[in-house]
Amino acid sequence: MDLRSFKLHRPDHHVRAVVVGARGEQGRDLEGEAYARVDAVAEPLWAALERQAGAPVRALAVDAFARQATLSRADAANPGLRLTSAEFEALVDLVAPVARAIRGELLVRAPDVAGAGPGEARFWDPLFVANAGGWELGRAAPPLVTWFSGHVPEGMRALVPGCGRGHEARLLARLGATVTAIDLAPTAIAQAQAMTPPELTIAFAVADLFARMGSPPAFDLVVEHTCFCAIDPARRDDYVTAVADSLQPGGLLVGLFYAHGRPGGPPFTTDRAEVERRFAPRFTIEQLAVAQGSTLIRHGQELFAVMRRR
Ligand SMILES: C[S@@+](CC[C@H](N)C(=O)[O-])C[C@H]1O[C@@H](n2cnc3c(N)ncnc32)[C@H](O)[C@@H]1O
Repeated sequence: MDLRSFKLHRPDHHVRAVVVGARGEQGRDLEGEAYARVDAVAEPLWAALERQAGAPVRALAVDAFARQATLSRADAANPGLRLTSAEFEALVDLVAPVARAIRGELLVRAPDVAGAGPGEARFWDPLFVANAGGWELGRAAPPLVTWFSGHVPEGMRALVPGCGRGHEARLLARLGATVTAIDLAPTAIAQAQAMTPPELTIAFAVADLFARMGSPPAFDLVVEHTCFCAIDPARRDDYVTAVADSLQPGGLLVGLFYAHGRPGGPPFTTDRAEVERRFAPRFTIEQLAVAQGSTLIRHGQELFAVMRRR
C-alpha cells in the first residue's frame, strides 16, 4: 500500500491520508494514539520546518507522488508556504519516516496462515484475496519506470519473477518487450490477468521461480521488484541461480532490492554488500546504488541494480 498524499494538522491532532492499493485510491484518517505515534516520528521534521518558516507550523500537506509540500504557519498575515522542489528534497530524509509511520498505521494486516511460509502459495494467496499486501504500490515502481523510459526494452524477451498483480509486466509489455510473468500465487496471476488490457499480450503463469534452475536460458531481461525480499533468505543463492540460468549470456537483470534494515520479514532486508556477494559469481554488476526517485515510503531504502549475466 502506497501513500499518495497526507496532511498533518497539529491543532486538531489529525492526519488525513490518501492511500493507493490494488483497488485504487482511498481517503483515510488518523487521530488519537495513532496520530500521537506519527507526531512523535515527525518531531525532527516539525523542528526543521519551523526553522525554515521562521514561525510555528500548524500543518503540513505533502503530495508524495509529486514530491511537493505546503506548510501552514501560525501567522495570520502570512499562513501558507509552498516549499520549492529543492527545499522538499533537502527535507526528504525527514519527510520519508513520517510517510512510513502514517502508512504503518494504515496498513491492512491479514492473519498468518498457520504453518505456511513464504515459499508456499498458501502463504501469499490469501494476501491477494484480502487485498492485504503491504508491498502493493498500485503501479510499477517509479525507479523502474524511469530506467525503462530511457532504456526501452522493445523486442527483448523479459521475465518478471514474483510478478504479483503484474504492474512491471505491463510496463515492459507497453514498451514492446515480450513478457513472461510468473508468480506462485494463483490469485495474483488471476488478478494480474484481469488488470491487463486486451491489447497487451503477456504470458502470465502460476509457477515457481526455483523450478527454473537448470532450465535453458530463454530471456534477455529479468526484472526484479520485491521478489528477492519475499523469498526465504536461505534461498537467495538459489534465486541467483534461477535468474542467471533464465538469462542468455549478456542478458540483463534490472531491479530494486529492498534494504529497509528492519529484522524479520517478508519483506526480508538486504544490503549492498550482500547483493554484491551473492550475484558476483554469475553477474557483472554494472550499477548498484541507492535508488533515485523511489516512492516516498521507500525513499533511501531501495538499491537499484543493473547486472549483466556472464
Ligand atoms: C512482495 S510480493 C511482490 C509482488 C510484485 N512484485 C509487486 O511488487 O507488486 C512477492 C510475490 O512473489 C511471489 N513469490 C514468492 N516466492 C515465489 C517463487 N518461488 N516463485 C514465484 N513467485 C514467488 C509471491 O506469491 C508474491 O506475489
